[in-house]
Amino acid sequence: MQFRVVTDQPWDVPADVLVVPVVADPAFDGPLGELDRRAGGELQALARFGELTGKRYATALAAAGELRAGRILVVSMGDPAKLDREIVVRLAAAAERRLGGRSVKRLAFWLSPLAEQLDGGASAVAGLVARGVLEGSYDPRTIYREEVDLRLPVIDELILVAPGADLAALTREAERGIVIAEGSSLARTLSNRASNDVSPEVLAEEARAIAERHDLWIDVIEPDRATKLGMGMFMAVGRGSDNPPRMIVLRSGGEGERDAIDRHLAIVGKGVCFDSGGISIKPSARMEEMKMDKTGACTVIAAIATVARLAPGTPLLAVAPTVENMPGPHSTRPGDIVTALNGKKVDITNTDAEGRLILGDALTYAERLGATHLVDVATLTGAVSRALGNQVTGAFGTPQSFYEEVVAASERAGERLWQLPLVDDYVCEMESWYGDLQNSGSPEGSLVKSGLFLREFVTRPWVHLDIAATGYYRKAVPYAPRGATGASHATLVELALAGARVD
Ligand code: BES
Ligand code: MN
Ligand code: ZN
Repeated sequence: MQFRVVTDQPWDVPADVLVVPVVADPAFDGPLGELDRRAGGELQALARFGELTGKRYATALAAAGELRAGRILVVSMGDPAKLDREIVVRLAAAAERRLGGRSVKRLAFWLSPLAEQLDGGASAVAGLVARGVLEGSYDPRTIYREEVDLRLPVIDELILVAPGADLAALTREAERGIVIAEGSSLARTLSNRASNDVSPEVLAEEARAIAERHDLWIDVIEPDRATKLGMGMFMAVGRGSDNPPRMIVLRSGGEGERDAIDRHLAIVGKGVCFDSGGISIKPSARMEEMKMDKTGACTVIAAIATVARLAPGTPLLAVAPTVENMPGPHSTRPGDIVTALNGKKVDITNTDAEGRLILGDALTYAERLGATHLVDVATLTGAVSRALGNQVTGAFGTPQSFYEEVVAASERAGERLWQLPLVDDYVCEMESWYGDLQNSGSPEGSLVKSGLFLREFVTRPWVHLDIAATGYYRKAVPYAPRGATGASHATLVELALAGARVD
């Protein structure tokens, strides 16, 4: 997709479709009134007809009268006081998806109605809209099919329309937005791929190709070395499968190198290529979703690639413990005791609480490689989905100052987090008779306990993001298809870029 920024008035821009964001109950004065007049009053007619419901992401097509665009696509932003960066991305994606299967090659998007409402104005909106349009064109249904009539949106050129704006600044932001969208798309495709396609070794191969492309250092730790290193929790999960585990480690910048704000940041992603539950096997209903359990790993691999494109050389470490959790004669049994990389003896009371086991060793390993700050991303619990649903990522972290830095990054990225408490009083419920701790305690407070377990394996500032619900959608919404969403990719990118050197 090509893009261009123009400072012309929206009615002067030639395109197949002009996207016009509107508030609920628009007043039709100022430029919107002028646009409506030139469109022969079509927009007011739509409003009178009851077609502009004002519901956020609702869309309506209108004739364009004397405009130079062929048609108008109105997209509702709902209550303008509630507009935020996430909504801007989604409005753009919803507009793009609404046009699927229509003959639209050149899409113009009028930024001003959004720029008036959002902090950061037109240049922020340019970045978010470019990203949203590209993210809206993502569809996983072509991963395993070539020629099918899926009525996918295909746009050759996006024209960002911002009268009076700073052309250079908008162009820069839009370019950045497109790189972020491409990274998110890479993460989504990796996680949407099936488990018979993406084994730990295949994900490692993908990581090697990405490392090559972006000049990243890579190390893939195979079972013999992982065992010698003492990654007992990581190895315990992978044992039941014929597809051996891989600890994938990527780095930009030098070993242990500090970034511009004196961090060696590590991003760690859960890579369970299939989670059957192991011997503590899951019920069969919806088990096919568990191919998505590698989403955290796919996200950190894509995020380091995006950072390498936007600010090459920025110090960043990505660790993706990758396994398949399967039942079999070699599987870990409930009650098995293993030694973690940090020396703790862990009583595996439930083989389905496997994410925390592989992440624990990966977090320890990241610290050994010099990480001073750690963020892990994982489809860790069903409980986070019951607590928060698929619109907010659950987050834990300590100390609070680092948590706030991650929240600030998520706000720049247009992604919502909600903090969950690390309640020390529950630690005793994770104690084990035979070991130092068990991986799964009683079900009460199990979401908090998942965070507490991970905390046992970090000694530095750390945040955990549970994307079990936000990481993929079970059904399509106006701004996204079913499948992986790319959630937290942009947050990780923004967090890492806070440490980029500016020269
Ligand atoms: N991968 C699952 C969590 C999950 C469930 C992600 C549903 C997406 C949708 C994780 O490994 C798991 O099985 N968690 C258990 C933990 C429990 C055994 C303590 C859970 O949430 O039930
Ligand atoms: Mn599990
Ligand atoms: Zn899992």
